[in-house]
Amino acid sequence: MILTEAPVVTAALEAAVRAPSPHNTQPWLFEVGQDVIGVVLDEERVLKVCDPDRREARLSCGAALMNLELALAVAGRSCDVELLPSKNRPELLARVEVGARHRATAAEQRLAASIRPRYSNRRPFASTPVPAGARHAVCQAAREEGAKLILLDEIGLLEAVAGLIRRADHLQTLDEGFQTELRAWTKGNGSHDGVPAYAGGPRPSGGLLPVRHHGESDQTREFERDPVVAVLTTPTDGPLAQVRAGRAMQRALLTATSLGLSASFYSQPMEIPAARTVLRSLLGENEHPQVIFRVGYGFPGTTTPRRGVEEVTRTGP
Ligand SMILES: Cc1cc2nc3c(=O)[nH]c(=O)nc-3n(C[C@H](O)[C@H](O)[C@H](O)COP(=O)(O)O)c2cc1C
Repeated sequence: MILTEAPVVTAALEAAVRAPSPHNTQPWLFEVGQDVIGVVLDEERVLKVCDPDRREARLSCGAALMNLELALAVAGRSCDVELLPSKNRPELLARVEVGARHRATAAEQRLAASIRPRYSNRRPFASTPVPAGARHAVCQAAREEGAKLILLDEIGLLEAVAGLIRRADHLQTLDEGFQTELRAWTKGNGSHDGVPAYAGGPRPSGGLLPVRHHGESDQTREFERDPVVAVLTTPTDGPLAQVRAGRAMQRALLTATSLGLSASFYSQPMEIPAARTVLRSLLGENEHPQVIFRVGYGFPGTTTPRRGVEEVTRTGP
């Protein structure tokens, strides 16, 4: 059977493209062959200013891979995943061999059901505290994929990281190259990529954390006083660790969604090498920070568009 003809693969790819990506660049391509799907980093969609090392692009492809695996599982197919399978093709991040019949676990079903409703919620969250059980579940999800989710509960640590986010945000505001790239990916309604204005949040009136400004209104609002901020770290760094981190990030985000939680990212310090080094020294030299996000109970928002599966699929090697 050629997989391109199988509805199960179309459904899996439709799930894959729902992954988050910086500025909604969707830096992925899928090569579909006989019982094999290749996940490929799309060089043309790498953010040159924000992500010259392709780290965030690999995280995004790792998240797409997580969605793909979950969608195959709930469609009743097992899969065998090899990360970075070819030395000659570093852009080929994963090779997914679709296997025999599989009975999806309850956890796979719960996470797969969260793929469509998940979105980045940049608006203020309710002040309702996130219970210990939910915090534990989100951290455990990252751990299952070999990453660590550090909740910034320690007195002083949240303030230190928040200060770093504010400083990095300020530097990006002054960086003409960064702003030009951000504007290029801030799109009007009707586009299938980029961040639409409606997905942005208001500017926080004071408070700990700045929200990346996507050209939305200049309204200001008070954000939650006691945000739950998490840093996802990996024990090593490099392409392999970054794809794994993307899987862990997505498992954590889907777990949060399944528990009724919203999330939004603060990547400013990740995108400035000196700031990422400072963050590492705050967390410990054994931790390689990959992504920062906050979780909490958000008021309902809307998902953002994606390019269609046919636009991102090639017939495989
Ligand atoms: C690695 C990574 C970094 C991101 N950094 C930010 C960020 O700093 N600020 C922000 O508002 N959104 C950030 N995002 C969220 C994307 O803008 C968002 O995923 C994309 O627009 C698609 O929207 P969705 O998450 O609602 O599906 C990031 C996403 C990823 C995967």
